[in-house]
Amino acid sequence: MKRITVNAASQSYDVIVGHGILKDAGSYISEVLKSRRTVIVSDDNVYPLHGEALRKNLEAAGFDVNEFVFPHGEQSKSHETLLNLYAFLAASNITRSDSIIALGGGVTGDMAGFAAATYLRGIDYVQVPTSLLAQVDSSVGGKTAVDIPAGKNLVGAFKQPKLVLSDIDTLATLPADFFDDGMGESVKYGMIWSEKLFELIASGNIKEHLEELVTECIDIKRQVVETDETDKGLRMILNFGHTLGHSIEKTQNFCGLSHGKAVAVGMYLLTKAAEKHGIITENISDRLKACLEVNGLPWSVDIPAETLFANSVNDKKRFSDDINVIICKTIGKAEIVKMPINEYKKLVTE
Ligand code: GLY
Repeated sequence: MKRITVNAASQSYDVIVGHGILKDAGSYISEVLKSRRTVIVSDDNVYPLHGEALRKNLEAAGFDVNEFVFPHGEQSKSHETLLNLYAFLAASNITRSDSIIALGGGVTGDMAGFAAATYLRGIDYVQVPTSLLAQVDSSVGGKTAVDIPAGKNLVGAFKQPKLVLSDIDTLATLPADFFDDGMGESVKYGMIWSEKLFELIASGNIKEHLEELVTECIDIKRQVVETDETDKGLRMILNFGHTLGHSIEKTQNFCGLSHGKAVAVGMYLLTKAAEKHGIITENISDRLKACLEVNGLPWSVDIPAETLFANSVNDKKRFSDDINVIICKTIGKAEIVKMPINEYKKLVTE
């Protein structure tokens, strides 16, 4: 078991990573929450797997627990689900000193976290991520959001959790596709920060090292978030592969490649293009491609470069006529390169 303390500017909290730690959830959670009234928020895939055990564990630790279970899938990350959740919190008499426990993947964590950020102008919440993507990335750092018809994650808030409990054993029930999705984000952490982590992932037997993988990714995220909690500087490096990745997801109407797989393709296409344009002088794209392949991740997509460019420039992370492009000139180090849109267009399309 590993404990990583995230000292974000707004709040410090622990991320506990280990096998079987959910059997002690009640005791870990009681250490950080004063009130003993809480609502577990989970979807109808995850709750049947882990919800009852978590509930019983919390009750044994003296908690009064209600649960809000919603239909799984990105379409539930909506204002409709959020309004239902607010109504449920009110009906459960949740006050400002009570809390929410988000049990599930990225959709659950983002939506429950946003409810915690906004209900009664903010209540405490705990993240219990059960997907690889949520364990290596989205459960830590306090980005919470829901989608609106104009785009994903367009309404949100920064709200750090009081605690993150990442039980590696919950990954055993994760469908292969969802596991691969989390590997896309994991490769990103190796690319932007740690060649050692990249090599571990590229070795092809990551399933034997899941505790190390989650711990390493979260420790990198900790360092980034401690430096820049609100995404105005260093934190932008976490978007490596995301501008083209989001473009792929959007072009495919969010029914094609999943987020982590689209990020995998985005990282490769950008790295290859930067090599072609002399921005990167080492050949790292072949190593990246091999690492993606050994982890069952894609590195190409059948979308014209012009379309990829067009659908990437209205990304919400763009400022004015320039775009911040995240480039790894070597494995384990990322740079934020601000470039005019025209230059970015040439990079992606020529
Ligand atoms: N997932 C990227 C971030 O938390 O900033």
